[in-house]
Amino acid sequence: MILGNVHQPFAAGLPPALAQAILLAQAHDLQSIAPGRYELQGDSIFMNVMQFSTGAPAEKKAERHTRFIDIQILLAGEERIFFGVAGAARECEDAHDEDDYQLCRSIDGEQVLTLQAGMFAVFMPDEPHKPGCTVTQPAEIKKVVIKVSASLLAK
Ligand code: CU
Repeated sequence: MILGNVHQPFAAGLPPALAQAILLAQAHDLQSIAPGRYELQGDSIFMNVMQFSTGAPAEKKAERHTRFIDIQILLAGEERIFFGVAGAARECEDAHDEDDYQLCRSIDGEQVLTLQAGMFAVFMPDEPHKPGCTVTQPAEIKKVVIKVSASLLAK
């Protein structure tokens, strides 16, 4: 997990491929862009823009991915994300390999972070994360999740 600010993507010590992905996303007007999926670089970088109300962590499941890195950027509101180190996902359901996700009921040694607007959190493959959780009570947020193929880091 890496935390940073979108206005200084290179300051967080991000691998260049990930900082580059943030710049690609920022070529769009993220504050006004409609929710949906946008291609950024062929099959290897795309983003999902979302707007929804945060929910109680007890009602949500953690997700883990194997092929893609998540760069979760909060555009508006406040959001809690529970997470764990690689390999910490427990009680997992069947993997959806085609869509590169698996849902899990718990995280061993669970940690929590709070995103403010303008911050991002990067989750590497196999690092479980449960985004979209309330800080105090349910509230509307807008965010973008940039999906970056892990193969880009190997280059
Ligand atoms: Cu994810």
